[in-house]
Amino acid sequence: MTSTIAVVGTGYVGLTTGACFSKLGHDVICADIVPEKIDSLKRGEIPIHEAGLEEIVREGIDSGKLTFVLGAENAVSNADFVYLCVPTPQGADGSADLTYLQAAARQISAKLQPGTIVVNKSTVPVGSTHLVERALGRSDIPVVSNPEFLREGTAVDDFLNPDRVVIGSDDQAAAGRVAALYLGVRAPIMVTDPASAETCKYAANAFLATKLSFTNAIAAVCEAVGADVNDVLLGMGYDHRIGHEFLRPGPGWGGSCFPKDAKAIISIAEDAGYDFSLMRGVVAVNEEQFERIVRKVESVADIDGATVAMLGLAFKAGTDDVRESPSLEIARRLIAKGATVCGYDPAVKSLNMEGLEVVDDAYAACEGAVALVVATEWDDFKWLDLDKIGDSMAARNVVDARNLLDRGALRRRGFTYQGVGRS
Ligand code: UGA
Repeated sequence: MTSTIAVVGTGYVGLTTGACFSKLGHDVICADIVPEKIDSLKRGEIPIHEAGLEEIVREGIDSGKLTFVLGAENAVSNADFVYLCVPTPQGADGSADLTYLQAAARQISAKLQPGTIVVNKSTVPVGSTHLVERALGRSDIPVVSNPEFLREGTAVDDFLNPDRVVIGSDDQAAAGRVAALYLGVRAPIMVTDPASAETCKYAANAFLATKLSFTNAIAAVCEAVGADVNDVLLGMGYDHRIGHEFLRPGPGWGGSCFPKDAKAIISIAEDAGYDFSLMRGVVAVNEEQFERIVRKVESVADIDGATVAMLGLAFKAGTDDVRESPSLEIARRLIAKGATVCGYDPAVKSLNMEGLEVVDDAYAACEGAVALVVATEWDDFKWLDLDKIGDSMAARNVVDARNLLDRGALRRRGFTYQGVGRS
């Protein structure tokens, strides 16, 4: 059955949600508070790097199933469902800042038809479904939690082919209507109470971050005992209880979600009287990982007053997002020690950081550098001409924080090579 869905907030979650619901056949109207964003979206131009999204946005616009409007209050009056997809940034104390969510709820309240279901897709602390209910102040509007599990770069595929759909509500009829929106999506759909749905989102991200910090810690152990982390992880991953996914060591984890959500779950637990010491350790291991990469660079080159090349600025490949990017965290630390960092990224074309110069070519980034740091796992970096890079560098040193390059080929050309968790 076709429903009318209003989506409030056109960030990567809101835009993906809106566009994918239109792809599933629903009539969707997306709202944002930024006029330029709405203008360009109406033209089918999308502001983010997200595989497949532009195509389905254009498809939606052409079929008339996807429209854009300025201001949430102008989107919701005919909606059967309103999806709240506004940001919940990290507040000063590590907890999630719910100002935008509450403001959105207050803004739409008077415009909603009785029986419209408000769905919260933003990542919010436990109890926020009730907070939205209070901000709406309407007993005739059920509020449902439907957390997102979308990865940047593969958000469209994650939405249309999810591992699961989680719906949390005290109103079973409303939960059932939200579940029906996903008709056509082949995935387990589970209905639970709001607190469990909200906790599920944080717990999933916290577990994945834990897996990554564990992987990076095992890489450190491998370096200490002379083992090869790639083989160790392969051997571990064959155990189906562990699995191969999310076991790639790296420069530390980042992005707009993990750092924020890891700190938020610590703060949620603390407020509820539980000291989540495991998670504090997970965050600490991640901080150490940035520093371990910096120390690797310092072990091969005197960086004070020198240039360090950095390949990859985005927090992972497949996106232009630099929020909480490990690359930038490492660059910042190198710059603090007197280096100038010259960075290149296929998707990031400019950045405002003193001491960091962004160039538009990988070879140009390496010119005159005393060391090259591979910080993001873009496939393109595997195929670079190593002779050309070596000839232009001041010294042939590579720190490969993603274990991406061919270490044999580099060493044959006289480079020092340090990966993560292997010699
Ligand atoms: C993450 C989760 O994976 C999504 O399920 C979740 O919905 C999303 O956060 C969110 O809360 O919105 P995302 O931030 O897009 O998605 O990034 P990931 O692909 O999970 O990567 C996170 C970080 O871990 C990156 O810095 C990445 O480079 C790093 N990573 C990932 C590794 O170092 N090794 C791996 O094996 C995998």
